[in-house]
Amino acid sequence: MPEGRIRVGVLASGRGSNLQAIIDAIEKGTLDAVLGVVISNKMDAPALERARNHGAPAVFLDPKAASSREDYDRDILEQLRVYNVALVVLAGYMKIVTSVLLEAYTERMMNIHPSLLPAFPGLAPHKQALDWGVKVSGCTVHFVTEGVDAGPIIRQAAVPVLEMDTEETLAARILVEEHRIYPEAIQLFAQGRLRVEGRQVRIR
Ligand code: GRF
Repeated sequence: MPEGRIRVGVLASGRGSNLQAIIDAIEKGTLDAVLGVVISNKMDAPALERARNHGAPAVFLDPKAASSREDYDRDILEQLRVYNVALVVLAGYMKIVTSVLLEAYTERMMNIHPSLLPAFPGLAPHKQALDWGVKVSGCTVHFVTEGVDAGPIIRQAAVPVLEMDTEETLAARILVEEHRIYPEAIQLFAQGRLRVEGRQVRIR
């Protein structure tokens, strides 16, 4: 393992296609990072299998074993420390992150959301976009702060919304862009090129 590469910890609840894009970028050499650990709140999350296939530690942490959300995040934090994680990447992670993780990983935790924030935060963003009738949507990588999908924006990509779109077709078009910009954003972090100034993320 090359020296000096930042260690990324991914939190994922589901299929893990964004995780896979990150793994692919690491394996291709376009992302100078090490996948330190993948943690899931779902025992059968395909994301865990993707981690194992890459040879990375895959950890299931049972939320039911924790007495509160904060306690659960303490369990996560412990694992992140065991694997010496410098950057936390949320990739389809379906739990609210508490102040326990936010404080430990301030400006060191990213999320991706399938809309052009600040439009359509929260649940069902593709449906929100279609219902609103927007002509353009996309995805956003941002630092995680207390508000839902509200942190400083690192990278965005836009796609057209077509008349015939369903949630599924729009999601598929956006997902292609997610898989491109998430590894890019992590690479910028890995290169030490991101600086947060209030709401602005400056890229050097
Ligand atoms: C992605 O659309 C991501 O933007 C959202 O949840 C979905 C996760 O998909 N936060 P995957 O598990 O990475 O395939």
